[in-house]
Amino acid sequence: MKIAMLGSGFIARFYADSLAAQRRKDILVSVYSRSMERAEKFAKDYGLPHYSNSLTEVVENPDVDVVVIALSNDLHLGAVEACATAGKHVLCTKPLGRTGEEAKKMLEMVEKAGIMGGYLEDLCYTPKFLKSLNSVKAGSIGRVLWAKSRETHPGPHSDWFWNMEQSGGGAIVDLGCHCIEISRNFIGKDIKPVEVMCWAATQVHPIAAEDHAIGLVKYANGVIGQFEVSWCFRGGMDLRDEVMGSEGTIWLNNFLRTGFEMFSTGKGTNYVAEKAESSSGWLFPVGDEVHELGYSHMFTDMFESIEQKREPMESFYDGYVVNCIIDAAYRSAKSRNWEPVQLDDWRGRTDVKEGHEFASYDDQFYLIKEEILPNGEKKLILKDKKTGAVERRDI
Ligand SMILES: NC(=O)c1ccc[n+]([C@@H]2O[C@H](COP(=O)([O-])OP(=O)(O)OC[C@H]3O[C@@H](n4cnc5c(N)ncnc54)[C@H](O)[C@@H]3O)[C@@H](O)[C@H]2O)c1
Repeated sequence: MKIAMLGSGFIARFYADSLAAQRRKDILVSVYSRSMERAEKFAKDYGLPHYSNSLTEVVENPDVDVVVIALSNDLHLGAVEACATAGKHVLCTKPLGRTGEEAKKMLEMVEKAGIMGGYLEDLCYTPKFLKSLNSVKAGSIGRVLWAKSRETHPGPHSDWFWNMEQSGGGAIVDLGCHCIEISRNFIGKDIKPVEVMCWAATQVHPIAAEDHAIGLVKYANGVIGQFEVSWCFRGGMDLRDEVMGSEGTIWLNNFLRTGFEMFSTGKGTNYVAEKAESSSGWLFPVGDEVHELGYSHMFTDMFESIEQKREPMESFYDGYVVNCIIDAAYRSAKSRNWEPVQLDDWRGRTDVKEGHEFASYDDQFYLIKEEILPNGEKKLILKDKKTGAVERRDI
């Protein structure tokens, strides 16, 4: 597949590093940047035959099969429109839109044009995430009860993130989009997110948006998703997920503690890892960032989906649902109430209710708890199904 990159900044380079790695057969052939110098430098660095400071020229280039959007959040909608007009498949970075309304327009554009809209949610493709999702789907941790995801770091690297008009918000729209989609995958994408309760504050930076937030997303089956996001965290980039099920637990640490620890007095000027704040003392480098952050599996899924004419694991529809959850989070942070998730276009299950499945001990009793005490005794706590009486039994 021949690929065009729109943008030449931070994420465009991460994507290009991933696309150029491991002798991939899908190749970058063109880049757009508003600055001709940056377009030329990017083209030279990655050996591209074409570059331009005209977005339409790059999108309409007949050599291009698929377009990757790596532009600031305010430019996603216009870029998707250009791809839809040219009939080119489009892969857009996160967040899809600044609001659910913008995301919906993008979804409608790609569906009307009959092109594929892939949502580049890399953190749902990390090797650890994919393996843990398989375990959850295989039932290894039983019924999922709570899924939490945390992304915190000392704040983004470009001016436009700090401008609400261009970004659409602060840490919630920038980082919460990852966390919400991680929880949604664990809970089940066919389960409707119903309402959101969110605390958000501007604690450190002189900006209009929030730089710290915590939110709860309630799903139709009563399961809770939780996101913790911050641009105030010191010490690097903290990416952690946690899933609690009726039969087990998963803890994932994706970045700061990956099993690679290094000490340096500070000699040399080596890059350590994304958002690392220091290159001396004990350090936590990441072996192959593009792989460990999910980019490799993500692009493989995207290109195979186009070839096989199927939906990718992360589609524009997913981006739209995430944006609608974020909209509800912003409303809740303001109103201080649970706010409904407004999804005009819901494609998942509509028959789900909050349910309880209690474990039976026998025909007469439910089993509440079973424990072996330090002296070796085994204790059972049972509840009579008919009378409701709770009793202890030593065995
Ligand atoms: N893990 C991830 O998936 C991840 C990580 C970082 C950023 N992102 C997303 O990638 C997108 C770009 O972020 P970034 O970190 O690369 O930012 P960046 O500032 O490094 O790059 C932004 C790009 O947009 C271009 N741009 C900005 N304003 C423009 C304008 N008015 N006209 C034309 N071009 C303009 C810049 O020149 C640059 O090429 C954002 O949507 C961001 O949320 C995703």
